[in-house]
Amino acid sequence: MNNESRDVVISVEGITARLEGNTILENVSFKVFRGEILVIMGRSGSGKSVLMKHIIGLFSPVEGRVLINGIDVHKADESERANIRRSFGVLFQSGGLLGSMTLSENTALPLEEHNDVPDGLREMLVRMKLRLVRLDGHENLLPSELSGGMRKRAGLARAMVLDPEILFFDEPSAGLDPVTSAELDSTIININEGMGTTMIVVSHELQSIMGIAHRVIMLDGEEKGIIAEGDPRELMHRSSDARVLNFLNRRVA
Ligand SMILES: Nc1ncnc2c1ncn2[C@@H]1O[C@H](COP(=O)(O)OP(=O)(O)OP(=O)(O)O)[C@@H](O)[C@H]1O
Ligand SMILES: [Mg+2]
Repeated sequence: MNNESRDVVISVEGITARLEGNTILENVSFKVFRGEILVIMGRSGSGKSVLMKHIIGLFSPVEGRVLINGIDVHKADESERANIRRSFGVLFQSGGLLGSMTLSENTALPLEEHNDVPDGLREMLVRMKLRLVRLDGHENLLPSELSGGMRKRAGLARAMVLDPEILFFDEPSAGLDPVTSAELDSTIININEGMGTTMIVVSHELQSIMGIAHRVIMLDGEEKGIIAEGDPRELMHRSSDARVLNFLNRRVA
């Protein structure tokens, strides 16, 4: 499908990101289309997490704007903001579970924030999402009682509890062994294919990028922006940029 005829879910328009006086990203623009898995890749420090935090509204750009379903994330009024917030889920780099809460309490957190959901329904939604990530039967465990892979899956269950149309993942496979990481990638693909969820995944792990990405953008710290965009398999063979070729043709450990 050519990009012009596709349904745009997120439009990043000329954003400049400045943190503590340092310009991290300059005049960055790209689109995310409905139902795709877009991977934001690049070396450590290239600004991947900073970009994601600008898109979800945690940080504000000094120039440019971010539209989610046509609404300016940083200019939205309170009710628009609540709608935008309900339309996406986020899995942070660390998993982000609260240590003092059980798995089911952690998973239910977004429900407390947004909706006045009756107890019975809340329990059912939590149970469904934990089953989806194969954590059913572990509802009453604390995060410290889970393995790294289980914690990531729990973060995913929580990100999905409101059935968001968009999911953001920051380094979903960081710190996981290759087998667990591949399992998480399969879960991501199953959710994307099964529910049509649009996904933005920050990653620098080649195996994962090649396994899940429909399309990638590559950030570069010196350029303060995007140096490549497209199908990772094509870029791997046909990019004319040495930085892109080197990144995509590293040997997978
Ligand atoms: N809250 C912050 N305040 C000031 N500078 C920051 C902040 N967060 C990130 N930076 C800077 O922005 C740059 C990009 O950081 P970022 O975390 O986006 O990198 P990254 O591509 O996600 O790297 P990694 O792959 O290691 O997670 C770095 O130079 C970092 O020091
Ligand atoms: Mg990061």
